[in-house]
Amino acid sequence: MPRRHKRWLTTLLLSVTGCAGPFPQTTLAPKSDFGIAIDQLFTNIFWWAVAVFVVVEGLLLYAIIRFRARPGAPPPKATHGHTALEIGWTLAPAVILVFIAVPTIQTIFRTSGQAPDGAMQVEVIGHQWWWEFRYPDLGVVTANELHLPVGRPVALAMTSADVIHSYWAPGLGGKRDVILGRTSRLAFTADSIGTYYGQCAEFCGESHANMRLRVVVDSASAFDAWVAREQAGPAPIAPGSVEEKGRAVFARSACIACHTMEDVPAARAVIGPNLTHVGARSMIGSEMVENRPDHLAQWIANSAAMKPGSKMPPMVLPPEDLTALVAYLRSRQ
Ligand code: CUA
Repeated sequence: MPRRHKRWLTTLLLSVTGCAGPFPQTTLAPKSDFGIAIDQLFTNIFWWAVAVFVVVEGLLLYAIIRFRARPGAPPPKATHGHTALEIGWTLAPAVILVFIAVPTIQTIFRTSGQAPDGAMQVEVIGHQWWWEFRYPDLGVVTANELHLPVGRPVALAMTSADVIHSYWAPGLGGKRDVILGRTSRLAFTADSIGTYYGQCAEFCGESHANMRLRVVVDSASAFDAWVAREQAGPAPIAPGSVEEKGRAVFARSACIACHTMEDVPAARAVIGPNLTHVGARSMIGSEMVENRPDHLAQWIANSAAMKPGSKMPPMVLPPEDLTALVAYLRSRQ
């Protein structure tokens, strides 16, 4: 095979295999009422577009073939206006636009963020570059992992602590800008248990691409168990343990200037994520890396090396203090 052909074949193969799944952030497999409403609207308009395409291209091809220039044929007859045709091609697009506009406007109202009574309230706060989730009725505050019960309406009230971000978990529906000083609302009911990935969808600075989130949709009982664990307060610490030493390191370090940690009275700051149950989260750094002791140690030593622009300053600690601090954080289940 000539080299040029080989290159084409490789490009083609790469393009085709690029279409293989899985697609953790697809919008085409909606798992909430909100997502289904958007999907139906998309499908509806897609078929209108297909119909328009087929009619217009069909007429074009017909005209090109039927009326093409033939040798020896006289010049075509000039036509000056055709009232019926002109009314027809003005009315037809207007009617099509009505068929597109009516369901579009209906969907805009259906997805405007009005939640039914009894919906679970969650406050979402976008930060450079992580997500804070507060459950005011449950007294739970967490970061980057939004836990929801399946089948129950949820009302998200969203704002920003700094610049404009945009909340988007595509599998569960629409995208909303989150803006300092304003509240954006999003309401939906998740219909399938699973983990749905999302990310910030508005450029917000250096680590915009690393401002990820996950939504964990659980059965009612698994969700209640998660809430109970979050509400249970800090996990106990054995006297004289390495975790106790780690807590002392935390309490005398810069950690307390930015984080809340329930069993460290001086740590009540809300600049960074609440760490009371950080050990229970599966990832750190807003879904940057798995929550493992080595990653935690690297993160504490120099988070900006893992996540460009990270606002957490590097911490220089003696190795045994760092190990104790990591053990303490890991025990915060
Ligand atoms: Cu936050 Cu982009």
